[in-house]
Amino acid sequence: MEGDVSLQLPAGQPAPAEAARAKHDAVRDDFAEAVLSGLARKERSIPCRFFYDAVGSELFEEITKLDEYYPTRAETQLLETHRGEIAGLVGAGRVLIEFGSGSSRKTSLLVGALGEVPVYIPIDIAAESLKEAATWLSEQHEGLTILPLIADFTKTRSLPRAAQRRRKLGFFSGSTIGNLGHAEAEAFLANAARLLGKGSAFLIGVDLKKPVSILIPAYNDRRGVTAAFNLNLLVRINRELDGDFDLSCFAHDAVYNERQGRIEMYLVSLAEQTVRVQGRAFAFAEGERIHTENSHKYTVAEFQALARVSGWRPVKAWTDPDQLFSLHLLRL
Ligand code: AVI
Repeated sequence: MEGDVSLQLPAGQPAPAEAARAKHDAVRDDFAEAVLSGLARKERSIPCRFFYDAVGSELFEEITKLDEYYPTRAETQLLETHRGEIAGLVGAGRVLIEFGSGSSRKTSLLVGALGEVPVYIPIDIAAESLKEAATWLSEQHEGLTILPLIADFTKTRSLPRAAQRRRKLGFFSGSTIGNLGHAEAEAFLANAARLLGKGSAFLIGVDLKKPVSILIPAYNDRRGVTAAFNLNLLVRINRELDGDFDLSCFAHDAVYNERQGRIEMYLVSLAEQTVRVQGRAFAFAEGERIHTENSHKYTVAEFQALARVSGWRPVKAWTDPDQLFSLHLLRL
C-alpha cells in the first residue's frame, strides 16, 4: 500500500499549476541571470546548482555508482553500520525533514531504523525527482505519510502544519553541504536550526579530507561520466538560453585546491573562440576556464567547529575504517 504523497508548496503560495509555471519562469530567469553575469566576470563561474536538469540528475545518479566515486557507497555503509545507534540517540517519533531529495535508498535505511516516523518531508526544488523519490519511499514504507515540499532548501523559512509543534530530525546527506562555501554552509546550518527548532536533531553526511590520489579520480573518472555531467551545463545553456557552445571545444577539469580544502571543477576552452548566449558574445582565450563547482572537504573537527558557530551541538561523528566519509549527529 502507498503512503500519502502530495506535493506541497511553501505557505502562502498560489494554486499548483500557476505556481509551477511561475516557478519554471523564475528558475529560467535565475539561470539566465547567473550565466550572463557569471560569463561576464573576469574569473568566469556558473553556480553548480544548475547542473541538475533531467539529464544532469541522471548523470549524477550514474556518478554515484562509479568505482572512483566513493562518497555514496561510504555514506550508505556508515548508515547501515550505525543506524541502530543513530536511532537510539535520536529517539522515535520525530518528523523527518530531508534537505535535498537525496538518494531514496539512504532515506529508506534511516526511516527503517527510526521505526516510528509520523511524517517525512523531503525539500527540493526539482519537483519531478522529489515526486519520484517520494513515491518509491512510500512503496517501501507502508503507511508513511510523505509531504514533499517544492522549495530551495537553502532558503526554506517554514514547514507544513503537520511538522509544527513536533520534534524534528533533519537529514542532509551526500556531502551536498560541501558544495556550499563556508559562509553559505554556516548560513544554511543556522537557517536549519531556526526551521527545525529547539530540541531538534540533525544528521549530516560530510566528505572527509584525504589524499589527492583518491580525490581526483572521484571527480575525473575513467569513463568520463563526470566530464559529461560538467559539459551538460553547456548543453543546457545552448537549449534554454539560446547558446552556441561547441562542446568539442571545451574540456572537463578537476583540481584540488589545498589551501581552500576543496575540489574545484572547471570547463576549459580548448581554443580561442567566441560564444554567444542570448545574443551576448563572450570571447574565450585558449585555456581560459569557467569555474562550475566547489566540493569542500572537512576534517571531523573542522565540521564540528562550523556546526558550533551555527548554533548546533555536535553529539557524535562516525567515520569509516578508510577515513573516506563522516556522518555527524548534531543537536539543538
Ligand atoms: C552533489 N555533490 C555532493 C557532488 C559532490 O561530490 O560534490 C556533486 C558532484 N560533482 C561531481 N561529482 C559529483
